[in-house]
Amino acid sequence: MRYIEFGQNATKVSELVLGAMRIAPMTPAEIADLIEAALDAGVNAVDTAPIYGPSEGLLGEAFALRPGLRDRVWLQTKLGIRPHPRVKANYFDFSYEHIIESVDNSLKALKTDHVDSLLLHRPDALMVPEDIARAFQELHDAGKVIDFGVSNQNPAQMKRLAKWLPFPIQANQMQLSCAFTPMIDASFNVNMENDASVMRDGGVLEYAYDNGMAVQAWSVMQKGYFGGVFLGDPEYAELNETLELIASEHGVTPSAVAINWVLRYPGKMQAIVGTTKATRVAESAAACDWEMTREEWYEIYFSAGHQLP
Ligand SMILES: NC(=O)c1ccc[n+]([C@@H]2O[C@H](COP(=O)([O-])OP(=O)(O)OC[C@H]3O[C@@H](n4cnc5c(N)ncnc54)[C@H](OP(=O)(O)O)[C@@H]3O)[C@@H](O)[C@H]2O)c1
Repeated sequence: MRYIEFGQNATKVSELVLGAMRIAPMTPAEIADLIEAALDAGVNAVDTAPIYGPSEGLLGEAFALRPGLRDRVWLQTKLGIRPHPRVKANYFDFSYEHIIESVDNSLKALKTDHVDSLLLHRPDALMVPEDIARAFQELHDAGKVIDFGVSNQNPAQMKRLAKWLPFPIQANQMQLSCAFTPMIDASFNVNMENDASVMRDGGVLEYAYDNGMAVQAWSVMQKGYFGGVFLGDPEYAELNETLELIASEHGVTPSAVAINWVLRYPGKMQAIVGTTKATRVAESAAACDWEMTREEWYEIYFSAGHQLP
């Protein structure tokens, strides 16, 4: 396992993070087993959010079942996505009041006195940076949150926050996989007239690198937006063939190759794996034991159906 230095204390956090968005069908004991299996594989980081249904509460019960387990993991949660009281949709809320209330609820559910990292989940158009700054300062002073970050934000939004926040933005959690590459496509197709040249993210990968920020890739196995797993999908036959070939050459699984592809981007890259299976966590951990060549990285990019100028 490889580790990045995360946040103000340069904490050693694994490049692989266990995502807890899909743990609802599991029992607390099964979740505790999964976290222990992850720790055995060197994965010391867990990501959750209040909007992931019972995820935080189940994690809290798992921690309560196994004394000491909470302290062995680096724990991250998020805030700001709320069910609308009248419309059947979620809306986004980065108000001072919601930030404070949400963190208190998260700590209670997680049965812990602090989280190691807190992310603003999806940008709230009505956010007032000074209000966020005041809430973050209070949470930090109270020992409830160590480091802060964002998710799904572009550099313009991060620059504005950075101007006001009392702490550096340590991470941005973004969707990225070898089958979902808009951030990378745009960086190849500068000043071209094709669709791939449309920059949808404003250069997050470049901004994160230049600012020493971790990029946490979410849905590293998914096609589209929650479109299902691309592994074994006939629609992605060529990609799967390439992943299998490179996997056999390195003695790892195709999913480890897919994760390695994400981690190969320069800088502080992390991959959040959303599996509920201990065996898959262990297989995924193999992604961090080798470095993909440039040729392999580009071969995977081509086989996912992309072209270069
Ligand atoms: N910031 C954001 O906006 C955002 C959005 C979405 C997610 N996230 C975070 O990212 C984490 C990961 O997201 P995700 O769950 O979509 O990621 P994912 O790892 O791409 O997908 C996990 C799903 O893929 C299945 N899977 C994994 N490996 C497989 C394989 N080799 N063959 C077949 N199926 C396989 C898993 O099933 P099994 O359980 O059976 O293995 C699970 O259902 C979440 O838990 C959450 O923490 C953040």
